[in-house]
Amino acid sequence: MMREESKISSPLLQFFFFLLFFSVSCVNGEDPYRFLTWKVTYGNIWPLGVKQQGILINGQFPGPRIDCVTNENLIISVYNYLSEPFLISWNGLQQRRNSWQDGVYGTNCPIPPGKNFTYMLQVKDQIGSYFYFPSLAFHKAAGGFGGIAIWSRPKIPVPFPPPAGDFTFLLVTGTREATGS
Ligand SMILES: *[C@@H]1O[C@H](CO)[C@@H](O)[C@H](O)[C@H]1NC(C)=O
Repeated sequence: MMREESKISSPLLQFFFFLLFFSVSCVNGEDPYRFLTWKVTYGNIWPLGVKQQGILINGQFPGPRIDCVTNENLIISVYNYLSEPFLISWNGLQQRRNSWQDGVYGTNCPIPPGKNFTYMLQVKDQIGSYFYFPSLAFHKAAGGFGGIAIWSRPKIPVPFPPPAGDFTFLLVTGTREATGS
C-alpha cells in the first residue's frame, strides 16, 4: 500500500501539473481592458464667463477623465455627432508601435461627421497625469479635451503616502471678441 501512495511521478499526474502550469501562464498573458464609449456633440459652454458653442464629450465640458492603471488597454469608441471631422490626440501617451492611433492628422484619419472610430491604446509602463484634446482646426479652443490619470499598479509601491484628494486642472487660454464694456 505504501508503494501505491508514493507514485507521484505517474504520467497522469505529470500531465495534470503541466496543465496547471500552462493555465497559470495563460492567465498572466494579457493586460486588462477598459472600454469607454464617447459621444461628441455641440453644446453651450462658458469657459471665459461668456456663453459660446463648445464641444462636449458625453455631455461634459471638460470631457470625462480617464482613470486607468499602468499597462491597461483602453478601447475608446468615439461617435462624432458634429457636422465636421473630429480627431482626438492623447497627449503624453507613448503609443509604442501604435503611432497610427495617436490622433494626429496624417497618421490617423479624422472621424467623419456622423461616423465612429474606436481608438485602441495601451498605457504601457506609464504612470501620471496626461490629457487628451482634439487635434483638428481650432477644436481644442472649444472643448473636447479632458484629463487622463494613469494610476500605479497596486503591487508596485510609490514612494509617497496616498493623497488626501485628487483633482485635475486643465488650464485653457483663449480669446473672445471685445464687447466694448
Ligand atoms: C461603429 O459603431 C458600430 C455600432 O456601435 C460598431 O459596430 C462598429 O464596430 C463601430 N466602428 C468602429 C470603426 O469603431
